[in-house]
Order: sequence, then structure tokens, then C-alpha cells
Amino acid sequence: MEIIDNVKDMQLRADEIRSFGKTIAFVPTMGFLHKGHLSLIEKGKKAGDILVLSIFVNPAQFGPNEDFDSYPKNIARDLELAEKQCVDIVFTPDKESLYQKNYQTYVDVNDLPNHLCGLCRPGFFKGVATVVTKLFNIVKPHYAVFGEKDYQQLAVIRQMVKDLDFDIKIIGSPTLREEDGLAMSSRNAYLTKEQRPAALSLYNALVKARDIVKKGEKNASKIINSVSMDIKKYKDTQIDYISICDPYTLEDVDIIEESVVMALAVKVKTTRLIDNMVLTPDLNYI
Ligand code: PAJ
Repeated sequence: MEIIDNVKDMQLRADEIRSFGKTIAFVPTMGFLHKGHLSLIEKGKKAGDILVLSIFVNPAQFGPNEDFDSYPKNIARDLELAEKQCVDIVFTPDKESLYQKNYQTYVDVNDLPNHLCGLCRPGFFKGVATVVTKLFNIVKPHYAVFGEKDYQQLAVIRQMVKDLDFDIKIIGSPTLREEDGLAMSSRNAYLTKEQRPAALSLYNALVKARDIVKKGEKNASKIINSVSMDIKKYKDTQIDYISICDPYTLEDVDIIEESVVMALAVKVKTTRLIDNMVLTPDLNYI
């Protein structure tokens, strides 16, 4: 496994791979790898000849009061996992080489960030779109894999790739969960054992909503109110948002007539967790 920490070297290596007629599949991450990340790597390996994994905690997507400084890190363990997963190249730039002094250029998607997480985390998607653009220009992939766990992020990236004519196929990959249903996340490392039931309330809310919708409930606010009450029963929880929205525009849906996405963000003490699920009415249900 090659480890490249320099922008120029990564670009030259990408050119070389392309000159051999090989395709590059890319999985961008912020490290502290878990099985969710590994499932993206598996997917990427099936899509392209050479798998590039990036590990970079992107300062541009963290707000001033967020967890940039304390974001979990264990690069030695990440490299070990990447090697085991037969990753070909790990790209690990430092923040000074990606954001040089006097850095000025950002990528800003217009509408999609004005929903869900974008409302609670202003500037977050600008930071994500900017770093992903930079990484695309450095790694030069044919394919890039993103998790459906970050549903809005995937939608923003797809929009950006379409709008800016990136010649890259974006592949979405399903959310990997712990045995109890909790969506895997690097931030789960912050949770204490006592906070685990509260953390699980996100998944339980989604399952409850999925089942109610299947049984014919169409009223989105009724469902949101019901699961909000469940989540608030845990004393450490604070709901950022719970939304039932259109899968493409992310606009709120009031009456559920076809598949919608339910997305939610809940703070468990100081740990902010997100999750989502597609809710599909069963048209045959009487
Ligand atoms: P990070 O949170 O490290 O996630 C990297 C990728 O892993 C994202 O595409 C995310 O959706 C996916 N992922 C996370 N948890 C998952 C799970 N349980 N199942 C499946 N996939 C999962 O997302 C980022 O980093 C950053 O915003 C990044 C895109 C790297 C830009 O900085």
C-alpha cells in the first residue's frame, strides 16, 4: 500500500495510473475508520482498478464551536485497516498543503444546503463541496463513493458534480449499522455506555416512522410529533431537526403519497448524531 501525503505526488501518481489505461475509484474520509468506511472501500474496489482512500479532517467544514480539534484520530489504526482492506493508495495531506496561506476559493451549492443539516451548520456544505472539489482535482478519480448515511452530503455532491461537469461517476452506498441499529459513525466514539440508549433513539424513530407509513399514515407532522416525544424521553437528547422530505429537493413533505426520506439530527449531550431512512407507503395496504 502506498501512502502519499503531498498534493503534487498524488496528482502525478493519478496521471500515471490513467496513462496505463487504469481507472481510479476514490473514497474520501476524515479517518477514524469504521466498518461503514470499509464498506465504501469494498464498493470502490468493485468499480475501479485502483482504490484511493483519503484521510483528511477538513477544517473548512467545521464551525467555530464544533469538534474540529477533538475529532477522533488514530492514523496508525486507519493505515492498518486500509492495508487489510487492500487499499492501493492512502492520501493523507496536512491542512497547510490543502489550504495554503491566502486561500480564497470556495464551492457553494445554492439550494440543497438550505435544508436539514445546512440550517444548523451554516457553511458546512460549502466546506464539504470545496474540499471534495479539491480532492477530485488531486486524485482525479473515475468513480467516487459516498455513504447514504450522510444523505444531504451525497445529494450536494451529486448536484455539484452535475453542475460543474465533473467527469466522475458518484456511487452511493447504504448505511452500515451496529447490531442494535445505531448507524456507524466516527463520532460514536464520543458516546458513553449510558448514552447508548439515547443514541439508539434515532434509529428507533426511523423504524417506527417506516412502519407507520407502511401502514398508511400520510400525515408527516403527526409522525414527526410522535417520534419527537419518544426521543425527548431520553434526558440527554436535544433535537436539531426531524424532517420528512422529498428525496431529491429535500423540501419538507406534508402529505406522504410516495417514497420520502426521513432525516434527523439529535445531540446526545454534546455528540451530534444524524441518521435517515427512506419511508415508502405500501400501496397495497388496506
Ligand atoms: P466521514 O464522516 O469520515 O465519512 C466518509 C464517508 O463515509 C462519507 O461518504 C460517509 O457518508 C460515509 N459513512 C459514514 N458512516 C457511514 C455508515 N455508517 N455507513 C456507510 N457509509 C458511511 O463525510 C465525510 O467524512 C466528509 O464530509 C468528507 C466527505 C470526507 C469531506 O470532508
